[in-house]
Amino acid sequence: MVIPHILEAAQFENRELLDSIFSLADELRENHNRFGESLHRKTLANIFYEASTRTRLSFEQAMYHLGGKVIGTEAASKFSSATKGETLEDTIRVIGGYGVGAIVLRHPDKGSAKAAASVSRVPIINAGDGDGEHPTQALLDLYTIKRELGSIDSLKIAMVGDLKYGRTVHSLTSLLAMHSRNSRLYFISPDQIRMPIAILKSLRDKIDCEELPNFEDVLDKIDIFYVTRVQRERFRSEEDYLEVKDAFVINRGVVAKMKKEARIMHPLPRVTEVSTGIDDDERAAYFRQAENGLYVRMALLRILLDDDIKGNFYKYFNTK
Ligand code: NCD
Repeated sequence: MVIPHILEAAQFENRELLDSIFSLADELRENHNRFGESLHRKTLANIFYEASTRTRLSFEQAMYHLGGKVIGTEAASKFSSATKGETLEDTIRVIGGYGVGAIVLRHPDKGSAKAAASVSRVPIINAGDGDGEHPTQALLDLYTIKRELGSIDSLKIAMVGDLKYGRTVHSLTSLLAMHSRNSRLYFISPDQIRMPIAILKSLRDKIDCEELPNFEDVLDKIDIFYVTRVQRERFRSEEDYLEVKDAFVINRGVVAKMKKEARIMHPLPRVTEVSTGIDDDERAAYFRQAENGLYVRMALLRILLDDDIKGNFYKYFNTK
């Protein structure tokens, strides 16, 4: 039996699958009440070993909107049996035995979602594995680009900030490389937190990429500014973090030089890298982006758990 885990963005190479997720999300946005019973008697387990607001609560609300239930722990590193020394694998085995439909997992270790999937009898949804990936965020990010600009092709996209530890950019670049035609990515970060070489190599031949020390020269050409928080929790020392934390700030002065149709995105939470002074600018898309997360996650939950449609999607999840 194939278990449809969602572990990394590379799983979403099939264009039909991507388009189905986006059209389901559109349909759910239009009228989610129509689907208010579609996950009746299904339960989702939200197991979060790291802080989260949007990912956890949007999955939770997505499940409620679809008529399902949620169990879980929002501070698994403090309140689960992990404090007693239980392994992640044992925890996953046990939760899977309680009849949940799927487990949403956020964990500080890269590779943890795959490790969980290797022992799980129910789908694991990777909600962020350390500095690895965050595939559901990437799906909502790409959905946002499509909604905001009408197309995901022929774009100039700047990824700004922490490209080393930022798992959202890792997953989003992977999705863009598979699906965006004729686009160019600019990676703009301090030297210490550049995009990992392995990722740069994997993008080669798939999408045009360029690393830049700052955005000055391209500011007026960019369609999407995807800004990220410097991931303080992943630095070896506070000094290392302080050195780079304010490297890039998008404020009104910067926005004034952008194209009128450009969009500023951010997975949130922001700290200082996007000034609150630009929130009212039409180009600031980050709160709309966060809202899109609800509909994309509703779509994903239907694909994995809705008995009426899930059978159509098994063929896309044939990897274990
Ligand atoms: C991101 C994450 O957890 O990777 N947050 C999110 O899920 N929207 C980004 C971050 O924490 O900076």
